[in-house]
Amino acid sequence: MSKIAPSILAADFADLATALAQCEAGGADYVHVDIMDGHFVPNITIGPPVVKDLHRHTTLPLDVHLMIENPERYIVDFADAGASIITVHAEACDHLRSVVKLIKEQGVKAGVSLKPATPLKAVEPVIADLDLVLIMSVNPGFGGQEFIPESLTKIRDLDKLLCNHGVREQVEIEVDGGVYLDNAKEIIDAGTDVLVAGSAIFKAPDPVEAIRQFKRP
Ligand code: DX5
Ligand code: ZN
Repeated sequence: MSKIAPSILAADFADLATALAQCEAGGADYVHVDIMDGHFVPNITIGPPVVKDLHRHTTLPLDVHLMIENPERYIVDFADAGASIITVHAEACDHLRSVVKLIKEQGVKAGVSLKPATPLKAVEPVIADLDLVLIMSVNPGFGGQEFIPESLTKIRDLDKLLCNHGVREQVEIEVDGGVYLDNAKEIIDAGTDVLVAGSAIFKAPDPVEAIRQFKRP
């Protein structure tokens, strides 16, 4: 069964404790936390102090997606704040290998994300060092966008690439953007291990039930 990581970007930012309680009640696997800096993406969200408080309010692993320039400057802060997984964008790193190493040195799982237009070869040199590859199925920056169908081929190709490198068991494929109950199956069938869903969960009338439905095979 695939995992579900609700993205609190679509939740009420003035009531994140409720969003966390909903994630726990629905049986979410991770809580997906979108960090945006107004440079790498046009939007701005939250920083390490908020992640620290989220961590105090939940036992679920915090899956921290850094959509920021120079992510190496903030890895230690997000690790100290309680992130379980830190994912950086390949496009934001001049020295991807050293950023991945820095994440691992904090005792945190390391992920690399790719924008829709970035080919898989951007992640290939570090693929054996990773715990997760995050395929963006929308252009990062905002929730509520439509799933880009070409992402399915990229997921299948990543699945093959991980197999060819002999690391399929060790590296999770996560997909983020435009994921809803009605396209979840084809995304999973393409090889996805972890679905990120924001609007589909927190804009639903009953977020707890929406998470449960994602968990039903
Ligand atoms: C977009 C973020 C996503 C976002 C997904 O840049 O990385 O995590 O919350 O939102 P939905 O599920 O609404 O497309
Ligand atoms: Zn995200």
